[in-house]
Amino acid sequence: TWTMATFVDKEIERIRSIVGPTAQVIGAVSGGVDSTVAARIMSLAIGDRFHAILVDNGVMRLNECETVKETLQKHLGINLAVADAGELFLGKLKGVTDPEKKRKIIGNTFIEVFEAEAAKIEAAVEQAGKGKIEFLLQGTLYPDVIESISFKGPSATIKTHHNVGGLLDDMKLKVIEPLRELFKDEVRALGSILKIDDDLVWRHPFPGPGIAIRVLGEVTPSQVAIARHADFIFIEEIKKAGLYRKISQAYAALLPVKSVGVMGDARTYEQVIALRAVETKDFMTADWFEMPYDILKRISTRIINEVKGVNRVVYDVSSKPPATIEWE
Ligand code: XMP
Repeated sequence: TWTMATFVDKEIERIRSIVGPTAQVIGAVSGGVDSTVAARIMSLAIGDRFHAILVDNGVMRLNECETVKETLQKHLGINLAVADAGELFLGKLKGVTDPEKKRKIIGNTFIEVFEAEAAKIEAAVEQAGKGKIEFLLQGTLYPDVIESISFKGPSATIKTHHNVGGLLDDMKLKVIEPLRELFKDEVRALGSILKIDDDLVWRHPFPGPGIAIRVLGEVTPSQVAIARHADFIFIEEIKKAGLYRKISQAYAALLPVKSVGVMGDARTYEQVIALRAVETKDFMTADWFEMPYDILKRISTRIINEVKGVNRVVYDVSSKPPATIEWE
């Protein structure tokens, strides 16, 4: 009978026969469950001939880059290179406020950084006389496959989703997609079988452009810091309340408006945090999550007290459609 455990064994065999005894494989990891499970299977199949690349784009969540590094390298023994490109991304985002421009800049810069890192790995591999990089690992799931076959999906036409398609042409790599027949819940089950931390297995999806599309208006280091801090508090309180797995996706967005407030006997004039939490099966449609008032109250108090530059918190009660999950 077909189980997730036999899936892993079969997939490892399949990968070994495709890749052969000497070829090398590269792939981007993000800290999400899909890319981590895909990387784990690949590294079980071919060990150090798989090279994972994490691009630090400067707009990941608080401490995320370190956590991903720790999990992949130490716990899962995956051969990982981190491209520290935060300053490059933030430099290119300077002065940009248009959401589509932000997405394009991040998508293009991602490919640029990933290719440069891949070229470094290729040079090292070649110098060591260890064969060539011939394959690109992608954590594509079944719904992604369907979306790109049908009509690129509503999301893809409404917002530019970034991918590493350019690499296939430039480096002439062949794609391997171990998860292309699976749904998200199956990937999570695989993650548990593969001994990946629960924390990572159950992590909410996080968009490639990261916090840059959750800081509305210009993305500066200080704005990113505010959004990160508020988001961290929001998620921490959701986890404490035992609601993290009930919610499909939650985050804090920083709005580019200021409002008047009062602290002691002084007037304040500071920014607004919008909290977004949704429930959804497929992310194509979504309902806003009915967050209990006492939890909202605790979160709002903490954000206003702890995050400098914010004096007001609002909760987003819009469903998709007509709103989207992300604000940009
Ligand atoms: P929207 O905002 O279109 O988002 O309702 C639907 C889902 O897709 C995620 N999302 C992205 N994921 N790259 C990604 O990998 C992207 O550019 C991107 N944009 C949105 C979003 O977080 C939600 O889960």
